[in-house]
Amino acid sequence: MNQPLIMPRRNFLKNVALAGAAVSALPLFNVRAEGAGRKFKIGLVGCGGRGNGAVENIIEAAKTLGYEIEVYTVCDFFPDRANDTAKKYNVPAERIFTGPKGYHDLMAQPFDIVLLATPPVFRATHLEAAINAGKQIFIEKPVAVDPVGARKVMALGEIAKQKGLSVVAGTQRRHMSGYLRNQFAVANGAIGKIVGGTVSWCGGALWFKRRNEGESDASYLVRNWTSFAEMSGDHIVEQHVHNLDVTNWFLGRPPKSAVGFGGRARRQTGDQFDFFSVDFNYGDDVHIHSMCRQVNGTYGGVSEFFNGTEGTTFGGGKMSSTKLASLNVPEFKTHENGQVQEHIDLLNSIVSGQPLNGARTVAESTLTAIMGRISCYTGQLVSWADLTTNTGSPWYNLSLSPSAADFESGNVVAPKDNVWPVPGEA
Ligand SMILES: NC(=O)c1ccc[n+]([C@@H]2O[C@H](COP(=O)([O-])OP(=O)(O)OC[C@H]3O[C@@H](n4cnc5c(N)ncnc54)[C@H](O)[C@@H]3O)[C@@H](O)[C@H]2O)c1
Repeated sequence: MNQPLIMPRRNFLKNVALAGAAVSALPLFNVRAEGAGRKFKIGLVGCGGRGNGAVENIIEAAKTLGYEIEVYTVCDFFPDRANDTAKKYNVPAERIFTGPKGYHDLMAQPFDIVLLATPPVFRATHLEAAINAGKQIFIEKPVAVDPVGARKVMALGEIAKQKGLSVVAGTQRRHMSGYLRNQFAVANGAIGKIVGGTVSWCGGALWFKRRNEGESDASYLVRNWTSFAEMSGDHIVEQHVHNLDVTNWFLGRPPKSAVGFGGRARRQTGDQFDFFSVDFNYGDDVHIHSMCRQVNGTYGGVSEFFNGTEGTTFGGGKMSSTKLASLNVPEFKTHENGQVQEHIDLLNSIVSGQPLNGARTVAESTLTAIMGRISCYTGQLVSWADLTTNTGSPWYNLSLSPSAADFESGNVVAPKDNVWPVPGEA
């Protein structure tokens, strides 16, 4: 698809005027900002699959808007990964940083935008350093593995706001035209009141790594991070967060509580579950069923579906609504790749001086997934208040170990492989 990506500003403003109250939440999609030819220096923390992908995405986004990107500095836990990325973009040796403390040196460099793409356990710590250094920020999802980390990101988001910094999250569905259109329509009554739904990320097994002979606990955990809840949050957090993010967005609130169950069927390393099924209670008699699974040879599907009193909708797909035609839903023209569009929105927000700040929403979606996980691991009903306000709750201060600080202090003890939570006992 090669449609023009830029919606003329005049049309955008006209559509915005038509669209009414829900518009204040809209970022400036595809409005070409001032300052064509401007160059942005970026830093990357986490030179893995997504980190390298995000660099390509922001280069493409800049090209779309007439800006330039210089990959100024990179950091990875492992020198070979940092060097590989540095080589691709001619980053000189003195601006390549490694190890669990390398990000401190990276943040001290003079550059504009930082991309944070390590495993989730490190995110809140790296976000704090980025805000302290006054960087504009792209932050991959999920943003925490436990309630303490998620609350920290919420608080940091407020500091970023005060400092006028953008924090754009890698929840790319929020930057895709189909989702934007449907969310706008739902917020404006297209399907009446949402009364229920089902969201899922069911698919095959992800990669896993075995421990090398003599390998340290820290190295093993970083290489095999998608197998340990302490590193990833488990796959309900790491992967299914996308669908839960859409749920919170479409309903306009996080859930009140979760009751779920899950288990382990085929994993060979780590301590994660293979499948989760959770009933999220959003209050007001609204329940959303969430399910996710990583097991080869089973039925797969990734979707969000919501039932309303006057229609139904998939997240970014088909909507059944008799009201849609009368709603004047604006034309959300976005790049065909949401992972490019999120960087278009980030760059536009910087140049226009209208920061976007998705820290709270991505932290809430992360915490929603964490709430589901805790319920499945323990077999208990877990409430949003347990994780946000009820300081006496057994889960309020849950902080998984090893933490980001443990990696920096060298105090990393890996959880045992193949020992996992038993509901009713955990
Ligand atoms: N938005 C999306 O659709 C999407 C898709 C894939 C991954 N992700 C997210 O991106 C993040 C990274 O995933 P990935 O697939 O690139 O994993 P990966 O394992 O390919 O890359 C992670 C990189 O971070 C490095 N790293 C680990 N700890 C570090 C530290 N403390 N300091 C510096 N570098 C460190 C690792 O060595 C590795 O190179 C995860 O949070 C994941 O959930 C998002």
